Amino acid sequence: MEKIKVASLFCGCGGMDLGVIGGFSYLGKEYVENPFEIVYAVDNDEYCTKIYNDNFRHKCIVKDVRDIVVDDMPQFDMLIGGFPCQSFSISAQNPPRLGYKDERGMLFFEMVKILRKRQPRFFVAENVKGILSANKGKAFPMIINEFMEAGYTVVHKLLLASDYGVPQKRERVIIVGFRNKEDFYKFHYPLKVKTSERKVLGNVIMEECNHDESLFFSEKAVAGMLAVREKMNKGRVMSLTEPCNTISAHLAKVSLNSTDPVFMVGDRYRRFSSREAARIQSFPDSFIFDSVSQNRQYKAIGNAVPPVMMWHIAKSLQFCIKSSYPETNAIDSKPVTVCNPVQLSLF
Ligand SMILES: C[S@@+](CC[C@H](N)C(=O)[O-])C[C@H]1O[C@@H](n2cnc3c(N)ncnc32)[C@H](O)[C@@H]1O
Repeated sequence: MEKIKVASLFCGCGGMDLGVIGGFSYLGKEYVENPFEIVYAVDNDEYCTKIYNDNFRHKCIVKDVRDIVVDDMPQFDMLIGGFPCQSFSISAQNPPRLGYKDERGMLFFEMVKILRKRQPRFFVAENVKGILSANKGKAFPMIINEFMEAGYTVVHKLLLASDYGVPQKRERVIIVGFRNKEDFYKFHYPLKVKTSERKVLGNVIMEECNHDESLFFSEKAVAGMLAVREKMNKGRVMSLTEPCNTISAHLAKVSLNSTDPVFMVGDRYRRFSSREAARIQSFPDSFIFDSVSQNRQYKAIGNAVPPVMMWHIAKSLQFCIKSSYPETNAIDSKPVTVCNPVQLSLF
């Protein structure tokens, strides 16, 4: 089968891209290669692109997406992008959430511009849960409307990464657009994996990290945190028997005085190593991060789309490409929200 060609905007270190192409192994399971190939990838951060280029055959360009000359892009069938989410995030209260009024919140328009001009068969956009309520609930329908105006039938769903075998309670909105109605009718969001296939933090913690002094918080930091813990909900110790709370780009500056997830070994508190953070995000151990500093690694990892979750989404898209539709996927009858024009009249 000829592969579907993919252009990737805001590719970061490549979590989304890895999930799309597949062909990796994670916690003993093979995530087989998918019939997709990345033909174009762009991010403006030279550090995450360095990681990207250490791991993919296709090389990513360091570029601001606003500088892309659309006619210069190669031919592609699918556009993907986790457009920057800081301005939509619930945690972005200081400064307040500006949503689409913030310069970074406007970057999805670059995806829209490319879709309008090139009309690929599909697109997949990813963002934080906060996008659904940003700007008092006005930003999201506006964004969906822009995608529809570009010529697409658009669906969206909030997915929980731990439902797909990722040891993390990360919730992300996945927007999928279809140029053809037939593809839209065939598409279903991926089914949750069986309970026996779900993963917890204990599956990814590395014993050798329990002996790495650099990962432990000092006694002074622990005493300071314990003094305010009850009141401030700090020092969020994760259970080994559950998926971890969401890890973010903030992990580079993790502190006991923040709400970042931490971990306890006996009576001592420690942060995750960057490899553990990568495992929490479902990157395979074969994925190379070490050509950049630890801080840059944490940032790129925390920003990524979990490859395993994305792999399941890519698998679902394949059902549109294949002529026959497998029975098994048809039982996911959870509501797929097609944007409703009534909702759009708010604008
Ligand atoms: C949420 S992260 C994407 C993560 C990526 N999809 C992954 O799975 O690894 C958003 C990315 O957008 C990039 N970015 C932000 N503004 C940009 C711009 N103007 N042009 C290009 N990339 C930009 C950031 O460097 C960051 O890597």
